[in-house]
Amino acid sequence: MKDSIILRPLNHSDIAEHANLLHNAFNSWYWKHGWSKDYFNCRPDEVSIFYQIYNDLTPGHSIAAFDKTNGQMMGACFYHPREHHVSLGIMSVHPDYSGRGIGRQLVNYILDFTEKNDFKSCRLVSSAINMNSLSLYTRAGFIPRAMYHDMVINVSTQGLNAPSVQGEERVRKAAPNDIAQMGELEMEVSGIKREIDYRYAIENPRGVLHASVYENDQKNIDGFMISVKHLALNMLGPCVARNEDAAIALIRKEIERFRGTWVLFSIAMENRKMVEQMYAWKAINVETHLKNVWGKFPGFHGISMPSFLPETG
Ligand SMILES: CC(C)(COP(=O)(O)OP(=O)(O)OC[C@H]1O[C@@H](n2cnc3c(N)ncnc32)[C@H](O)[C@@H]1OP(=O)(O)O)[C@@H](O)C(=O)NCCC(=O)NCCS
Repeated sequence: MKDSIILRPLNHSDIAEHANLLHNAFNSWYWKHGWSKDYFNCRPDEVSIFYQIYNDLTPGHSIAAFDKTNGQMMGACFYHPREHHVSLGIMSVHPDYSGRGIGRQLVNYILDFTEKNDFKSCRLVSSAINMNSLSLYTRAGFIPRAMYHDMVINVSTQGLNAPSVQGEERVRKAAPNDIAQMGELEMEVSGIKREIDYRYAIENPRGVLHASVYENDQKNIDGFMISVKHLALNMLGPCVARNEDAAIALIRKEIERFRGTWVLFSIAMENRKMVEQMYAWKAINVETHLKNVWGKFPGFHGISMPSFLPETG
């Protein structure tokens, strides 16, 4: 099989085929496994936002497999080297080529990159209901380290229709001079940092991201929240905070961005106060995800909400 495959990074000429691949791989997987609806409820070309944002952030950091016989894209994945770690995603293999070891080759390529460049870990967030991806990663050496409730809130055009929460007044829009503190906070809470991602969300060149911070009495940052609002994905995160109250205030404020639509987010199951607050805001459970780590993992010392765009943390 290896001899019949070409492995190379994606480039601009692959954008349309890659967007089709993502749309097709995810929608067919979820239909086949009883989801009864599309995962990407948008046109295939709209899914190209993943390539666009990831290529803006770290150009060329993707790996795709092509069938030598017909040139078709069989599978593709991005990887995101940051200060201390590499994160992996979004991964997809075309349904015509599933179960033939393509996913494994892409993961191996990214783990080789991680090892050769002396990164401490590779991190990703994967579905706990998807045995294809769960086994792909655990067989390659990843260990599930945290479990998340994926929840959706449908936000009315008037907003959340719930009282404001303590600390909401401390939340403000993030600015470029917050970036260093955002990095220190994520380092303290999660053992990683990714300043280019924070800067990108603050500068927001494609008009789909937003970033806010939670300030304490000393005007230091106790939390930050990034969110994406796009036809392919409405999602809160990454969010990092010192405690659940700060995270709840950040969520409450960021949800206002999604008036008249829905928003997805993932909350660690052990963050019980947050989980109860989300139910009080009429959140529904839609899936379960796992934080998977290959290599060193110092544990979480605070709140960490992952995201798929920009990828995890
Ligand atoms: C998940 C996905 C990428 C897997 O790709 P794939 O090319 O079919 O995976 P592979 O053929 O490389 O299989 C991976 C490994 O899992 C093994 N495997 C598959 N199902 C398994 C199961 N139920 N139990 C144990 N092992 C299993 C395979 O044997 C293989 O192991 P090996 O390399 O040690 O032999 C693909 O199904 C996909 O694109 N799904 C839709 C999108 C998606 O879910 N993306 C991931 C989001 S988290």
